[in-house]
Amino acid sequence: MERIRVTQGTEVASDVFIDAGIATSAEPAMPPRQGRRRVAILTQPGPLEPAEALAESLRSAGYEVALRTLPDREAAKTLPVVEETYLWLNSLGITRHDAVVAVGGGAATDVGGFVGATYLRGIETVLVPTTLLGAVDAAIGGKTAVNVGGKNLAGVFSHPARVVIDTGVLAALPEELLIEGTAEAVKAGFIADPDLLALYQTHGLAAPLADVVLRAVRVKADVVSADFTEQGVREILNYGHTVGHAIEHVSAIPHGHAVSIGMVAAGAAAEETTGFDSAGAQRDLLVDLGLPVEAPRVDRAAVEAALLLDKKRDATGVRMVLLEAFGKPTVMSVDMTTVRAALYAVGVC
Ligand SMILES: NC(=O)c1ccc[n+]([C@@H]2O[C@H](COP(=O)([O-])OP(=O)(O)OC[C@H]3O[C@@H](n4cnc5c(N)ncnc54)[C@H](O)[C@@H]3O)[C@@H](O)[C@H]2O)c1
Ligand SMILES: [Zn+2]
Repeated sequence: MERIRVTQGTEVASDVFIDAGIATSAEPAMPPRQGRRRVAILTQPGPLEPAEALAESLRSAGYEVALRTLPDREAAKTLPVVEETYLWLNSLGITRHDAVVAVGGGAATDVGGFVGATYLRGIETVLVPTTLLGAVDAAIGGKTAVNVGGKNLAGVFSHPARVVIDTGVLAALPEELLIEGTAEAVKAGFIADPDLLALYQTHGLAAPLADVVLRAVRVKADVVSADFTEQGVREILNYGHTVGHAIEHVSAIPHGHAVSIGMVAAGAAAEETTGFDSAGAQRDLLVDLGLPVEAPRVDRAAVEAALLLDKKRDATGVRMVLLEAFGKPTVMSVDMTTVRAALYAVGVC
């Protein structure tokens, strides 16, 4: 079993465990601690099987366990669902000594993380991500949020005590979900880990998940440990997300697809500005991984409007994460001429 630590200052904030088969056993989901009696598990429709197996295993270990299935996907990330969940925790008699466990994709772990961080002003929270995107991104780093009018507008920074990643569960994901998460995993390679890129270049989508997850989680854990509240270096995790979010906003394509297109656009912008000479290699790798590198038909003016609405705009242009080389990110303000050329490169014209 691999362990990665996320730190906050000099303290260990979260332990991340990675191995096949670990989501369904009481150990390591529950850090050793006296006084814990009840465990409330939140899940969503997709990963019911591992969630129920974990519940059973925690019961065998002597805990009182209750399990609640949230609405699927973004329908879970609302304040009414959060309130219903608080009321459910009241009815279970959960105390500060007890624990909340969220088993699922990023939507379930975002809600579980938010509820765990706020119920009784914060109780022990364990996240068990069951999508690749959840494992390498959403469950790591202590950002929790629900949607109120806009996406992720209400939330808190709060690390889970533990994150338990079962690579066996991830290996059984439907290909569509695997590809979506691969966008965020390969992003970690582009910004910080050329060896992870080499794994993907050699094996494509069949790259061994244990290695992919270990490497991608390490990248995110290191960045978050250096900058928990996103004052500086954490911004590099937004690689591909400036243009990606704008395209997602106007076309409703899956997030991972939008990020892939956004990385291609960032590659084109970097060719013009930083001397980045691997835009072609980046594009080829994304194609090999089954990710889109061209935007769907969208209105250029609408994409530009979404870009300019974004907080990432400043007086001289649009703030973007660009690469100087694989593993060497930089954040800069990109002028509108270059932004338009980058959009053109992904078919937004
Ligand atoms: N907190 C953060 O830092 C952060 C970072 C990135 C994304 N996010 C959030 O994560 C969410 C997206 O996460 P996601 O892509 O994991 O989506 P998701 O949680 O919406 O799950 C997608 C689908 O996969 C199903 N599913 C989950 N595990 C499964 C499994 N093992 N087998 C089969 N189906 C399974 C779910 O039921 C759902 O239908 C968004 O809400 C996003 O805002 C948060
Ligand atoms: Zn993302």
